[in-house]
Amino acid sequence: MTIRRFQPEDAQAVSDLIQTTMRISNKKDYPENLIESLAAEQTPEHVLERAGWTHFYVAEEDGQIIGCGAIGPYWGSENESSLFTIFVHPAQQGKGIGKAIVLILEQDDFARRARRIEIPASVTGLPFYQKMGYTFKNGVNSPDGEHLYRLEKHRIPDCSQNVLDLILSRRSYRGRYRPDKVPREHLRAILEAGLAAPSGCNKQTTSLIAVDDPALLERIRAVIDPPVAESAPAVICVLTRRIIAYRDRCFSVQDYAAAIENMLLAIVALGYQSCWYEGHITDTDRIGDKIARLLHVPGGYELVCILPVGIAEEEPKEPPKRPFDERAWLNGFPEAPGNGGYIHE
Ligand SMILES: Cc1cc2nc3c(=O)[nH]c(=O)nc-3n(C[C@H](O)[C@H](O)[C@H](O)COP(=O)(O)O)c2cc1C
Repeated sequence: MTIRRFQPEDAQAVSDLIQTTMRISNKKDYPENLIESLAAEQTPEHVLERAGWTHFYVAEEDGQIIGCGAIGPYWGSENESSLFTIFVHPAQQGKGIGKAIVLILEQDDFARRARRIEIPASVTGLPFYQKMGYTFKNGVNSPDGEHLYRLEKHRIPDCSQNVLDLILSRRSYRGRYRPDKVPREHLRAILEAGLAAPSGCNKQTTSLIAVDDPALLERIRAVIDPPVAESAPAVICVLTRRIIAYRDRCFSVQDYAAAIENMLLAIVALGYQSCWYEGHITDTDRIGDKIARLLHVPGGYELVCILPVGIAEEEPKEPPKRPFDERAWLNGFPEAPGNGGYIHE
């Protein structure tokens, strides 16, 4: 079996495949008149139209098209995609062909650029997509008016190629956030990035708490005065323990600073925004201590920073930065004798 891109001359065979599969496989889950009206829509012209704005694939064996599937933008979105038209001929089901098609679709450019992939799943297809890691969108576990379940998967984009771009694009974001929840796997990925940071003598003095429970967020907001990050759907709280590394040296500040920068970069990599709120919550009014009490943080830990996480409603603002040559030099200070001091191209 091979999976290849659809060609216009496949349209008739794909149309036949979809209609046959609907009439046999979906029969047990839908009334016959509904199946017939949906199957009637799946003409070769309809297949061609869909293949025109998606990346459409077919699974082929011995010259026969036995499966198909497509991926395209979710309602024109640039960072959300949708899977469509996934069918495997009834005689070929149970052999892993559907899984192979979904895995190919998840490697397509439309999947790579997406932070979220949606599937309008039939009642028949639901258990298969759940096995492939898709979950109910917004927790809605019943079919919609089109008799389809809306399932989704949040992806962790592959940003390993763009680490330098990512570092340069990070900004402190203080605007409003969209209400979209941050998936738990993204929160976990951000926390893992934080814990991966170096720490002096590997004392690992930094601990983290992610908060996404709306009631708890509300209670935290109530103690942040003046308010910041009020609309963020999640917040990461950074805790430190002043553990001595050696003699009287304690690197806990450096440790949590490294962890915070790692997390800020992970947050941007995943398509969210944040801001390092430390001054605001460690000032004389000790907002951090109040948040720590709400989170049942035991003695010995200090809550030193909060990082909101969410999708930005506005563009982050670029603050003024002093020019490179005023802050970074080569082989000594610019005034060093016999030494230009500057890095030029
Ligand atoms: C230790 C530290 C504490 C900070 N505390 C706050 C804060 O309490 N409130 C705030 O709005 N920004 C805070 N920031 C963010 C800085 O204001 C921000 O990094 C700086 O203005 C440069 O902007 P940029 O992050 O977009 O490069 C803090 C940053 C650091 C490193």
